[in-house]
Amino acid sequence: MSKHKYETMGQQFGRRSWAEPWKVKMVEPIKMISRAEREKAAEEAGYNTFLLRSEDVYIDLLTDSGTSAMSDRQWAGIMLGDEAYAGSRNFYNLENAVQQYYGYQFIVPTHQGRGAEHLISQALIEKGDYIPGNMYFTTTRLHQELAGGTFVDVIIDEAHDPQDQHPFKGNVDLDKLQALIDKIGADKIPYVSLAGTVNMAGGQPVSMANVRALRKLCDKYGILIYLDATRMYENAFFIQEREEGFADKTVAEILKEFCSYTDGAWMSAKKDNLVNIGGWLATNQEEVAEQARNLVVVYEGLHTYGGMAGRDMEALAIGIAEGVEDDQIAARVGQVRYLGELLLAWDIPIMEPIGGHAIFLDARRFYPHIPQDQFPAQTLAAQLYIDSGVRSMERGVVSAGRDPETGDHRYPALELTRLTIPRRVYTQAHMDVVAESVKAVFDLREQTKGLEMIYEPAYLRFFQARFKML
Ligand SMILES: Cc1ncc(COP(=O)(O)O)c(C=O)c1O
Repeated sequence: MSKHKYETMGQQFGRRSWAEPWKVKMVEPIKMISRAEREKAAEEAGYNTFLLRSEDVYIDLLTDSGTSAMSDRQWAGIMLGDEAYAGSRNFYNLENAVQQYYGYQFIVPTHQGRGAEHLISQALIEKGDYIPGNMYFTTTRLHQELAGGTFVDVIIDEAHDPQDQHPFKGNVDLDKLQALIDKIGADKIPYVSLAGTVNMAGGQPVSMANVRALRKLCDKYGILIYLDATRMYENAFFIQEREEGFADKTVAEILKEFCSYTDGAWMSAKKDNLVNIGGWLATNQEEVAEQARNLVVVYEGLHTYGGMAGRDMEALAIGIAEGVEDDQIAARVGQVRYLGELLLAWDIPIMEPIGGHAIFLDARRFYPHIPQDQFPAQTLAAQLYIDSGVRSMERGVVSAGRDPETGDHRYPALELTRLTIPRRVYTQAHMDVVAESVKAVFDLREQTKGLEMIYEPAYLRFFQARFKML
């Protein structure tokens, strides 16, 4: 199948970049409340966009997690739910879909991604282990730490520079990994935690060459590779677009080859797989599958539902096949790119190259006068909401949390505000509104002040922390 298959009519005639490969069948009304109401709502939410009521939000770009619009086929699948406690036929459909598209042998369903992270961390990590990975993700690292491990970032340096144009900023730096192996010994490294399109680095992909080389290095030392497959469809799309030798392969073919270099994966199905809830753990290792099945009955549910209803597993099985279609994924990344290119045209600082699932505003360059301990990215998210009711999310010092040893804030190089685009939900007109609002907030940047944190929860503080304006 050639990639020309998903060219729109416009592209075929060289007219415009893309159009959505779907039409709207059902609508959900949204409304914008007044500025005074937004100011009140923001204050009541402690200037944390996670604490806003969604009714007070106009365009919700908090996350692409569980916010996708399901298709008519997925909704039809919901009616085919087999709600038997054990052995639901929907589980077998899900198992078949993961085997077919990702290529793994054993599948354990979970309620969402972090359920699978919990299982794999408990199954593979022993106290005192080190888990190298291509940049941390909040819940992933926390489960690794709770299992007694220490996460070590081995992503290439370019990933920490928001302006570097490297096409595969998600790549693992094999020299950093080798140095870690030399320092602590391979027996203290149960697996490499590899993520496709690295969320915290701005949705940046890993190349096929990099995963192949990583496999070679890990094989030399008997180290496993487990993949965070949450946004691997987008990663496969970037490989098709940017890496030599893949232009004529489908996203599905690229996905399967990439996964073949790994021993298993965990998945937040709420992203690429186009469902509102769900996740899975997959592995080619029978003993890991057995451990995961033992654990899943304690923490999630029986091993043939893992916290999902039968109907949810059916929608997920259908979503796995739909999400990986070339036209779907090209339009998804194309919409993100449309928003990013508008902002770049106005010289608004964003993380580049434009990633797969979101535009990351570079809050350091946006608000150079606000020090990191006054939370510039959190400030920007609050200001955007007040301006237009657009909800975004902080991905900077608040998300990074505190160092468990020193108790001090972790100060990440990247201080970003994420505008995350749900799949199949908003139109190009919504993107225009968002871009103009960012521009309006940018124009007022010099008079904007930072925030002070007045409540800090013990875990994953970005979800529930509260702030006041300085
Ligand atoms: C890269 C990545 N991994 C794991 C997760 C955790 O998945 P969930 O939110 O479904 O628990 C997420 C969700 O935000 C994610 O973006």
